[in-house]
Amino acid sequence: MSNAKVDILLLGSGGREHALLVKLAESSRAGKLYVAPGNGGMDAMAQKVELDAESPVAVATWAREHNVGLVVIGPEAPLVAGVADAVRSAGIPCFGPNGDAAQMEGSKKFAKQVMARAGVPTAAYRSFTEQEPCEAYVRQVGAPIVIKADGLAAGKGVIVAKTLEEALEGVRECFSGVFGDAGATVVVEETLEGPECSLLALTDGKTVVPLATAQDHKRALDGDKGPNTGGMGVYSPVPEHLVSAEDLATMVEVEQRVVDELASEGITYSGCLYGGFMLTAEGPKVLEFNARFGDPETQVVLPRMKADLVDVFLACDDGTLTPDMVSWDNDWAVSVVLTSAGYPGSYEKGKVITGIEKAEALEGVTVYHAGTAVSEDGSIVTSGGRVLDVTAVAPTFEEARARAYEACELIDFEGKTYRSDIGLRAVK
Ligand code: AMP
Ligand code: GLY
Repeated sequence: MSNAKVDILLLGSGGREHALLVKLAESSRAGKLYVAPGNGGMDAMAQKVELDAESPVAVATWAREHNVGLVVIGPEAPLVAGVADAVRSAGIPCFGPNGDAAQMEGSKKFAKQVMARAGVPTAAYRSFTEQEPCEAYVRQVGAPIVIKADGLAAGKGVIVAKTLEEALEGVRECFSGVFGDAGATVVVEETLEGPECSLLALTDGKTVVPLATAQDHKRALDGDKGPNTGGMGVYSPVPEHLVSAEDLATMVEVEQRVVDELASEGITYSGCLYGGFMLTAEGPKVLEFNARFGDPETQVVLPRMKADLVDVFLACDDGTLTPDMVSWDNDWAVSVVLTSAGYPGSYEKGKVITGIEKAEALEGVTVYHAGTAVSEDGSIVTSGGRVLDVTAVAPTFEEARARAYEACELIDFEGKTYRSDIGLRAVK
């Protein structure tokens, strides 16, 4: 493997991208780091670039003009838009799947069809392009039932309906156009029950290297109450009393089968394949695939990972990934998301944040920025719903959890809101 340094362009602005940037910067191969659009925590590490990160032409052109040797795509929208295709066509290595492979996240119907051909366990489903037959089917099956807008809907296109009324309301919402084209096709599926577990895996289109398990907390309030969010906190790994060695082996096999199935259809999936699983009484079943690293899962998985991320990402791109490129620290990570009051509904921005340095002075604590910006006077202010991911790594789960919460208390901004029960399910 070459030792030459490569300049890197990272696309995205969340806590996931901050965690990716920190890990990329640790690599002996990292040259100049660029980020588009980035957030308030990245200024010291990377140069911000004004660029339409969802435009394949704009990204590929900019990368070529600046001699970038690797483009890393964080979020799903540029992947589905075909940014990776354009970057690769320009002869530049890219981390993240091409547009056809990103349909694993971009279309729930496409993902379901691939799963069926690959023999992967998932919820039974039907898909509809018209409202009337969809409503008739929902009435026939009854609640509980799950309604999903087919396309990307920023995490909002899934309705887990407990009553027939909610389900029909969900169907109407999808077909009403609020999710744009994403709702033109609607997937109706059976409700699965059990604890959820995510598995991130890296792949070059042939070899699948499982990273680590993580458990996200999607609801806004303690006790898994309130509306769904992008994720309120997460820990890794998920302990054996929740996910057995057998479950884990099934999950890894599922991801390998999907990559193999796509390959047999002429689609190379290279990048991170995120499997969201429900651990049902009949074993793990797929809830969804994402074509990217999870947010906030990345913030607890990458700090525990021992790897040269630049080498690994280049190997995913050029088909030379091997399992020995990644190993693990034997420790635990817990990340608590600090949000603006009101999130996931409307919230105010521009609140000055203090105490980040004090929090990071605690052993094993890193504060990843998500919705932050630097104000004119140089202070860090809130600029989004999910503001900071306060992450602690420690030899035991209990220490990691205690330290993450200790750090949360040292940070202050008007409207600071967070769940107090992140990770409690990991405690037996
Ligand atoms: P997704 O974006 O597809 O992961 O869905 C978001 C959340 O909705 C998941 O994390 C689950 O909590 C829930 N969900 C999705 N599909 C199902 C299902 N078939 N049964 C029960 N819950 C589901
Ligand atoms: N944490 C859920 C996601 O990244 O989609």
